Amino acid sequence: MKTPNLIYIEMLARNAGEILRAGYEKTHQVEYKSTIDPVTEIDRQAEEFLLKEILDKFPDHHILAEESGIIEGNHDHIWYIDPLDGTVNYAHGIPIFSVSIAYAYKNDLKLATVYDPMRDELFSASRGQGATMNGKPLSASNERELERSLLVTGFPYDMWETANDNLKDYGKFAKLTQGVRRLGSAALDLCYVAAGRFEGFWEQTLQPWDVAGGGLIAEEAGAKVTDINGEENYLSPPISILAAPPILYEKMIKVLNEK
Ligand code: IPD
Ligand code: CA
Ligand code: CA
Repeated sequence: MKTPNLIYIEMLARNAGEILRAGYEKTHQVEYKSTIDPVTEIDRQAEEFLLKEILDKFPDHHILAEESGIIEGNHDHIWYIDPLDGTVNYAHGIPIFSVSIAYAYKNDLKLATVYDPMRDELFSASRGQGATMNGKPLSASNERELERSLLVTGFPYDMWETANDNLKDYGKFAKLTQGVRRLGSAALDLCYVAAGRFEGFWEQTLQPWDVAGGGLIAEEAGAKVTDINGEENYLSPPISILAAPPILYEKMIKVLNEK
């Protein structure tokens, strides 16, 4: 195999998801990367498994992985790895978390998979080939009105210290829509937009591994995905995300950009 294929990254996600599921009910060693940003031994075990597998097969590829940072390699082939997206939920025994893997060739996302081991839902996409969940095609919502829309968002780990805390936008959308949820896994938030469960998702202050996998899956399901300013390359820092079907996307970006 010279470059990865979808079956390969799906296998990686399922096996890493198995590590998360097996560790879920155990007592965790929680450490803090900042005041409210935790990491457990299971994040590290799942990442170790993924890095070993990928570097065994593709030793010269470049990898961005949450717990290890940058593993230098050929930038034509970039992997984005979040071994456990939803660590706060995981550490509290809330069964909403995922593993997210994406692969880009020459800076264009080509393959993505996000696996929710508690529901056994495997979301995948390959550029130009559509998105699926457990093999069934996905499509974003047909809803056109904000007042009938259920949205999802998230809040940054530095929200205690920053004015960029998303509370103002949260307040605005709470009064324009059917509701705004906070699930705690940006990767799943994007997959739920792909599946038409949520109409839209926005969040600020993210990392590339939070959005690369779910971003391609949402795009391939027909959502428009950019950063919150409308920048199409949502992997270029500073990273934020807006994903919604095109008509709602236009309504949401207007709200996000009004002063
Ligand atoms: C976090 C989750 C959460 C989002 C945070 C992310 P982690 O990732 O995706 O939903 O609001 O900004 O950092 O730390 O659980 O991998
Ligand atoms: Ca994450
Ligand atoms: Ca993580």
